[in-house]
Amino acid sequence: MDTKDVAILRVIDGLWETYEWVPVGEIEHRVSSKIDVTKKLRNLEKEKLVLWKPHSFGDEPSVKINERGLDSLAVWDFVKHGVLDDIGHKIGEGKESVIVLGLKDGEKRAIKFHRYYSAEYRKIKKSLAYTSIKWWRTLKGRLLRPVDFPRAKAQVEYRALKKLHGKVSVPEPYGINRHAIVMEFIGDEVPAPLMSKVKNESWMRKEVLDNYEMSLKEGIVHGDLSPFNVMVWNKLYLIDWAQAVPVDFEGADALMKRDKEKFNA
Ligand SMILES: Nc1ncnc2c1ncn2[C@@H]1O[C@H](COP(=O)(O)OP(=O)(O)OP(=O)(O)O)[C@@H](O)[C@H]1O
Ligand SMILES: [Mg+2]
Repeated sequence: MDTKDVAILRVIDGLWETYEWVPVGEIEHRVSSKIDVTKKLRNLEKEKLVLWKPHSFGDEPSVKINERGLDSLAVWDFVKHGVLDDIGHKIGEGKESVIVLGLKDGEKRAIKFHRYYSAEYRKIKKSLAYTSIKWWRTLKGRLLRPVDFPRAKAQVEYRALKKLHGKVSVPEPYGINRHAIVMEFIGDEVPAPLMSKVKNESWMRKEVLDNYEMSLKEGIVHGDLSPFNVMVWNKLYLIDWAQAVPVDFEGADALMKRDKEKFNA
């Protein structure tokens, strides 16, 4: 990917609220006339960063940026802003996200790319819309559309980590871009084990619940806490805050109870 590719991808991404498929003419209009946009788009398609709209008669040629394209733009901007020097291999993959190793000044970082997942969308679109409007205000006045979903989750998780780091044991957040966040890597050669994979001891449950009380004091309910979202290292780390809600959300009490019950065994 070179700077011309990035210029083209930026234009397509910048129009994501206006067009589902961006007409090539709109892109040509917005980038330097020296760039052969159609040729560049053919290459970007080969690299699986954009999709061409299947042609039907009378249609303007149009394109769409795909997941890989958005990931690449986010990484490009993280490097540009000094959050990362380089990226490494995939270290985790869930239905809702992909975690990739990042490097900065020789130290490991974790990059979490949020994904759209329809079953989860149906479940949390109300609480996520509420939280992202309250914490970011960016989505005010309109409903969360599926296309906004990974960005809203990244915003909510980043905001929760920012607010809690230093008070609650969570990975330190370093940056957010579009649907991706960069945070402290927990582990050494490989990620630290999850609490669900190690022998569950009562001091661990207490440590999690003590941390959770601090998070509630900061006004944040995790919403998806379980031993699958606790990493065991020199201390315990509470991770995966994408479903967090403020304590004044109408369903927050039930979520908080459910979170705590997972550690009351
Ligand atoms: N800061 C980190 N450092 C190291 N590894 C991490 C970090 N954050 C997440 N991971 C690894 O990635 C996995 C998934 O992260 P997370 O729970 O945040 O996402 P998720 O979308 O819930 O994925 P899953 O569906 O697998 O639970 C974790 O179980 C952990 O192994
Ligand atoms: Mg998880």
